[in-house]
Amino acid sequence: TKDISILAIESSCDETSASIILNGKVLNNIVATQSVHEKYGGVVPELASRAHQENIVPVVYEALSTSGLNKEDLSAIAFTRGPGLMGALLVGVSFAKSLAYSLQIPLIEVNHMQAHVLAHFIEDPKPKFPFICLTVSGGHTQLVLVKSPLEMEVIGETRDDAVGEAFDKTAKLLGLPYPGGPLIDKYAKEGNPKAFQFPITRMPELDYSFSGIKTAVLYFLREQLQSNPNFNEENIADLCASVQYSLIEMLLIKLKLAVKQYGVKEIAIAGGVSANSGLRDTLTDLAKKRGWNLYIPKFEYCTDNAAMIAMAAHFKYQEGEFASMDVTPLAKMKI
Ligand code: KG4
Ligand code: ZN
Repeated sequence: TKDISILAIESSCDETSASIILNGKVLNNIVATQSVHEKYGGVVPELASRAHQENIVPVVYEALSTSGLNKEDLSAIAFTRGPGLMGALLVGVSFAKSLAYSLQIPLIEVNHMQAHVLAHFIEDPKPKFPFICLTVSGGHTQLVLVKSPLEMEVIGETRDDAVGEAFDKTAKLLGLPYPGGPLIDKYAKEGNPKAFQFPITRMPELDYSFSGIKTAVLYFLREQLQSNPNFNEENIADLCASVQYSLIEMLLIKLKLAVKQYGVKEIAIAGGVSANSGLRDTLTDLAKKRGWNLYIPKFEYCTDNAAMIAMAAHFKYQEGEFASMDVTPLAKMKI
């Protein structure tokens, strides 16, 4: 039988990435991270699009040249259709279309959120179906019931900010650079999670809300700075630990509820926030206690990357799910 080799492109936010997958095995995962956004304290969409335009040719070139394949060997070109920033997506979609057209091979569109879940199939151990995936990143917070590679159902999600956004906005209030999530994690390790109390917002069903935390932190800081002359940097560790504690609690309350509702004990986490050591440790303990099988992908496959797009595309190729040449990106796109 013929080899299936796919070039995948990811450009939904601030990472330009390309990856080659050969017969279901990821050969590489080239990622160009955009640093232009740092000084703005968040991703600036127009700057992201321009950086994608600069990066896409060298990133794709590197993926091809380190794969040992020629572009004539490719079976298909895959790309992230959405959700994401429209201008950023457009760069990847247009590039993928032109390349597929020039090589006369099929196009495969991938849903970025599905791909985050399918990142679990890049390496062993792989979760068994059905499993529940908690996808947590800067742009998304979802509980997904995964029935098969291409059959997923969102059973809970945030109604406002994503959990990564809550980490980053808290960090910004503390004067930390963007993205602040990893720094909160770092400081939290030295702090007492019970030092201060931040609200645990409870939404109906399996939904989340993380927008309250930034206001709580803002008021807390104002009050402390006025009333407590001894409040200083040393308290930052306690503050980070306490905020992180609340965020993790909120994530896990709904995860436990989902496990109960669906009777599934195969649990996976995905997305950039799954790098958080507090979340990993708490979840690992919880899984042990409750007899869950827990799956956490390598960090490289948690943050935005094209390897997960390639993995999703491989499943779609096998099902013969191809996109037409007039496909357009979608800023909002459901699983
Ligand atoms: O998946 P990702 O790379 O991009 C999106 O699709 O959003 O996730 C980035 C998010 C940012 O909000 C970043 O602050 C957060 O993941 N993040 C962390 C940690 N590492 C990354 N948040 C908390 N603790 C970490 N160690
Ligand atoms: Zn993402």
